[in-house]
Amino acid sequence: RRVAILISGRGSNMSALIEAAKAPDYPAEIVGVLSNRAAAPGLVTAAEHGIATASLAQSKFPNREMFEDVMTQTLEGWHVDIVCLAGFMRILGEDFVNHWAGRLINIHPSLLPHYKGLDTHARALADGATTHGCTVHFVTPGLDEGAPILQAEVPVLPGDTPDTLAERVLVAEHRIYPEALRLLASGQVAVRA
Ligand code: GRF
Repeated sequence: RRVAILISGRGSNMSALIEAAKAPDYPAEIVGVLSNRAAAPGLVTAAEHGIATASLAQSKFPNREMFEDVMTQTLEGWHVDIVCLAGFMRILGEDFVNHWAGRLINIHPSLLPHYKGLDTHARALADGATTHGCTVHFVTPGLDEGAPILQAEVPVLPGDTPDTLAERVLVAEHRIYPEALRLLASGQVAVRA
């Protein structure tokens, strides 16, 4: 299976996927990384691995539909089967999501359905949550609402700040994202259309 990763920034989850995909028995190959920000550090990392990269700024397009059409054309140009969102900070429209339905997954830093949206770590701490975590899920038009593929739970520890909690969750993200992509790429999980 040919996989593209969509990023906006650092790309640590992207790196985890790239590393995992190096294993000879891994069922997916990372063939392209697309960013909506030209300055995303993850683009440099991807290029260092010899992976094709592209950057497309939504502001250069008249509307979201046209931006997303060009994203799909770029991905089709790489002959992509599966798209992984990894810190891609744009909400995707229905046309894009429907085009990639069942082949589009995301990592979200909470135990969904808790804490959809942004600032998940601060919100979990403010609620006095004792556990927190991350979820890899199929992407559907509703934000952070698609079926989960894998989740990992981490403890909230006394004295945690949003940053220390985010760091603990990120370790779990890097573990479950490659595992979830393995399940999807090998046909062990699927969604019904
Ligand atoms: C991760 O915490 C991810 O769950 C969230 O955005 C962050 C991206 O980090 N959606 P990175 O770019 O993968 O390092």
